[in-house]
Amino acid sequence: MDDVSFRKDASESIHSHLGGKRAADAKKIAAWCDKHLFYHAIGKSTAKDFELLRARIEELEQKNKLTSNRVFYLAIPPPAFGPTAKSLGKAGLNTSSGWTRLVIEKPFGTDEKSAEELNDQLHKHFHENQIYRIDHFLGKETVQNIVAFRFGNALFESVWNREKIEKVEIIVSEDLGIESRADYYEKSGALRDMVQNHLTQLMALTAMEIPLAFDAEDIRYEKVKVLKSIAPLRKEDVVMGQYAEGEIGGEGVVGYKQEEGVSPKSTTETFVALRMRVENWRWHGVPFYLTTGKRMKERRSEIIVTFRCPPISIFDPRKGGAVSPNVLVIAVQPNEGFRISFEVKAPGTEMGLKTEWMHFSYSEVFGPLPEAYHTLIVDVLEGDQTLFVSADETVASWKIYSPVLQSKHTVYPYPAGSMGPQEAERLRKN
Ligand code: BG6
Repeated sequence: MDDVSFRKDASESIHSHLGGKRAADAKKIAAWCDKHLFYHAIGKSTAKDFELLRARIEELEQKNKLTSNRVFYLAIPPPAFGPTAKSLGKAGLNTSSGWTRLVIEKPFGTDEKSAEELNDQLHKHFHENQIYRIDHFLGKETVQNIVAFRFGNALFESVWNREKIEKVEIIVSEDLGIESRADYYEKSGALRDMVQNHLTQLMALTAMEIPLAFDAEDIRYEKVKVLKSIAPLRKEDVVMGQYAEGEIGGEGVVGYKQEEGVSPKSTTETFVALRMRVENWRWHGVPFYLTTGKRMKERRSEIIVTFRCPPISIFDPRKGGAVSPNVLVIAVQPNEGFRISFEVKAPGTEMGLKTEWMHFSYSEVFGPLPEAYHTLIVDVLEGDQTLFVSADETVASWKIYSPVLQSKHTVYPYPAGSMGPQEAERLRKN
């Protein structure tokens, strides 16, 4: 590519992202891209190539009288993260007279050791406060709302503990398969792709203590604390599965082993269910169940908090007086919002109870939500690391899964379009 073809590509995709309707918009966008976008190929990534990149950046900054504020967004294969950070550093691109930031997408390593190594490589050239590790779940409004909900409402915080809560379930089910990512997914699997990052972040925000303030240092400190309090996962705490052929939305779909690029003998897991024990004062004895899978019945991400039933029921169960626990469901996506169940008296002469739901829906109240990446990119430019993952968090969360990665697990088949293998039920029993 060159400046011209890059600008054309960018302006077309911005236009289509905005709905692609008005020709006048297309012109405005193209004019903006012509003025602001430049393309520079890095070649073979030799030291000389990075010198040339530096020269190009400096030339453009001088010509356009810009402050030297720079973001290096590494949209490159993960094995190149460390070497690229090093090359940027060696070429003096890790610092400038303004600010310099480095953005990295997951995966941050593939286990505890490689995450530590990657952090060491990055820290040789960039300070932690320059590094923005993206977990895009943290940019979702509903995920940020966990913090607002917990710490903006004294009502809930006072019951957010083992005295009042029986269990917490975190489910991220997807109806999508692996699409055209067999190469990546075969090496990754659901544990590395979803659990170690997205589900663990949801868990940490749900379980963490009250931070001193809503800022990067305090929030990330509390998340690390809760990750460190998770007891080592035992073999019996984990169930893995892999989708076989089945039906989704009335359409037949192939099994994982039949997907293009997947080995017919593959034992890569596309489903993980696990039970976590959080050994701290707040959560001791409250199980956290994490479940995720591809090609499941539906796309649904939820945090389900089940409160304890009243210690004694004064109502006669034979007359409809059986009491169900209150349940709070934080709907991360779709139908973003939350709902909470209450027991109410069903009208009539008997004292019969019925479970009813109160709900809050983001789309009803606020309309469409901003995209996670919109929020995250603005935060990078503003220098706010609150919604990014710290070095300590990456290592602490890999550590939780070390025992699972080091042992062999049976991978049970489940039909596409189901809610995973039956075997996952046993986690709730023992
Ligand atoms: C990505 C995973 O990080 O998250 C994908 O690599 C997954 O496998 C995706 O499908 C889910 O994100 P979202 O925002 O579509 O729920």
